[in-house]
Amino acid sequence: MREDVQNAVNRVDQHRLWQRHMEMARIGAIPGNGVNRAAFSREDIAARKLLISWARARNFTVAMDAIGNLFIRRAGTDPHAAPVMTGSHIDSQPRGGRFDGIYGVLAGLEALEAIEQAGVKTRHPVELVAWSNEEGGRFPPCTMGSAVYTGARALSDFLEVKDNEGIALKDALAQTLAATPAAEKRELNAPAAAYIEAHIEQGPLLEQEGKVIGVVTAIQGLRWFNVEVFGETAHAGTTPLGARKDALREAIAVINALHELTRDASDTLRFTIGRMLVAPNSPNSVPSHVMFSVDVRHPDPATIARVGEAIESAVRNAAKRCSVKVTPTLHDDPCAFDAAVVDCVERAAQALKLAQRRMPSGASHDAMYMARVCPTGMIFVPCEGGISHNEAENARPEDLAAGARVLTAALLELADR
Ligand code: GLV
Ligand code: MN
Ligand code: MN
Repeated sequence: MREDVQNAVNRVDQHRLWQRHMEMARIGAIPGNGVNRAAFSREDIAARKLLISWARARNFTVAMDAIGNLFIRRAGTDPHAAPVMTGSHIDSQPRGGRFDGIYGVLAGLEALEAIEQAGVKTRHPVELVAWSNEEGGRFPPCTMGSAVYTGARALSDFLEVKDNEGIALKDALAQTLAATPAAEKRELNAPAAAYIEAHIEQGPLLEQEGKVIGVVTAIQGLRWFNVEVFGETAHAGTTPLGARKDALREAIAVINALHELTRDASDTLRFTIGRMLVAPNSPNSVPSHVMFSVDVRHPDPATIARVGEAIESAVRNAAKRCSVKVTPTLHDDPCAFDAAVVDCVERAAQALKLAQRRMPSGASHDAMYMARVCPTGMIFVPCEGGISHNEAENARPEDLAAGARVLTAALLELADR
């Protein structure tokens, strides 16, 4: 490893990185050691401010784009070179853990600081990005910030999306943008030279195999839908069952049909209904309207296409008494990462003598959209028991630091090309 790269890697500070995780975990802390930091919430804003305070202490520049993606940049020597980027997300699931997302943000900041402290000059700027609304738990769909940044989706597609309280994304976003008025304005679609995202694995393989680094090669395909069932509300005590149009009863039949459609003996396909809204949501009124989400994933392009295309007809065939509406909200084909970036991450882990393996990602990440616009890769570190999207999510300080060291070395290699 080059001496200046080794110097920067040596500056990665395990204690500082861990303390920052613990400080971030206080923002939106929930019982059981978890966090609830929904996108564009008070907690999201507080965490952004904390991150900005750390960036400003190092004189890194801070910028924001129209969807609130937050960019923290350490300048390079070539004023015309596009940034080599790293990052992840600040927002969490409603019952999320202390590492999903924020690890990639804090590891990126750690890399920038280590490079700065070692005084290493890079040709490209090295830039950390905290993507807005990666989780999509409050405002579906997920990976929204990177989808808009890369031009895969238009911001206007999402402004009217409402959370469970009826708050529109455009209003929550406006509050978030106003909360950081001193940030420079960043244009959407600005070019990037490369992107590497660090993340906890969110699965058990690294821990089971005693590996410290996952060199991520791909992300499986993902489709999301909103399914609506329209019935008629009526009195629970007086209306005969045969005369009802019960939207919830019909939704259950539809859900059973979808489980049949997605049955997979190899247990490779993932199928989840995670969100349901019932109206009028009263014990003694027949439900008139149900909305539920569908999340279906598979690594094989043909399989995810076949299942994705079959969802709507399965819903229609199962609905007998109520009308239905199926709205696709997300369509991400399986993505393979850039071979040169994958090699670069692998070489960095080898040079640091860290036990590693190549692996695909079951979870989605903003790296999926960045892969459409620049050479992209990811670094996984182990998490306890593979538990994620759960308050109990946990990771070891030394593994988090190891991932940040690999990230630092890989970013420096890319930033000098
Ligand atoms: C991101 O959290 C995902 O849903 O994979
Ligand atoms: Mn994540
Ligand atoms: Mn997540």
